[in-house]
Amino acid sequence: MIHVSATPVLALRGISKRFGAVQALTDVDLEIHPGEVVALVGDNGAGKSTLVKAIAGVSPADEGSIEWNGKPVRIDKPHDAQQLGIATVYQDLALCDNLDVVGNLFLGSELTARGVLDEVEMERRARTLLATLSIRIPSVRIPVASLSGGQRQTVAIARSLLGEPRVVILDEPTAALGVEQTAQVLDLVERLRERELGVLLISHNMADVRAVSDRVAVLRLGRNNGTFSVPDTTQEEIVSAITGATDNVVTRRNARTAGAAPTASTTSPTEVQQ
Ligand SMILES: Nc1ncnc2c1ncn2[C@@H]1O[C@H](COP(=O)(O)OP(=O)(O)OP(=O)(O)O)[C@@H](O)[C@H]1O
Ligand SMILES: [Mg+2]
Repeated sequence: MIHVSATPVLALRGISKRFGAVQALTDVDLEIHPGEVVALVGDNGAGKSTLVKAIAGVSPADEGSIEWNGKPVRIDKPHDAQQLGIATVYQDLALCDNLDVVGNLFLGSELTARGVLDEVEMERRARTLLATLSIRIPSVRIPVASLSGGQRQTVAIARSLLGEPRVVILDEPTAALGVEQTAQVLDLVERLRERELGVLLISHNMADVRAVSDRVAVLRLGRNNGTFSVPDTTQEEIVSAITGATDNVVTRRNARTAGAAPTASTTSPTEVQQ
């Protein structure tokens, strides 16, 4: 589903970011609508994580503007992003192995009643949250160390939802997962869309991207290199945009302005990973 006419919940305009001599991002635009899954793809070093860190307030952009529901906002620190309703789930997950599922879900935002931890209420809310998201976990009282990678990822995503965000950013949520576990996580992404959240999914896996995304935004060498509607685009077209091999209006224009000719693809069409 593509919400062309609706106001984006999050819009980035002209984002640039430099690290010393490295121009990591140049004039990048990105829009995410409510109930839309946007995949952010690009080769290693294309600037995906840098863009995520700018949105999350971890490492703010040097230039450009950010709009939230059509209004200009500033995201200078992680707290600003959280206040707006942007949740980011990083690849390293930051779960505590020795704590159980409830403990992890409420880590840092524990519920208390009369000065002591309200374990009963936390467990109740944990069960409700997992049930709403159709997340299947053997017990909410087992240490997360004993969960599968896919279950751990779904717990990490569930935790990000406790603050009731409107946009969730998932940085490579399926990178370390097998087929069945990947399916669990992608199912959860579908639940997020059903809840009208905007989702930004960073992935190198074209099969995952095509399975759940509505649109694909391609970054190449720190610049936009096309935004594609998934149902209307072949995998080859997306891969070509990632590698720069495509001969389309976007790359021709980029080639003209950069003074460089498009190069041939050396990347496998199924997975764009080194
Ligand atoms: N803290 C930093 N200091 C200096 N250079 C950086 C820093 N962070 C990123 N870069 C550079 O910015 C560019 C973009 O990096 P980024 O991590 O955003 O790429 P990416 O698309 O996430 O790649 P990957 O797929 O490998 O995760 C790279 O050239 C990288 O070396
Ligand atoms: Mg990265």
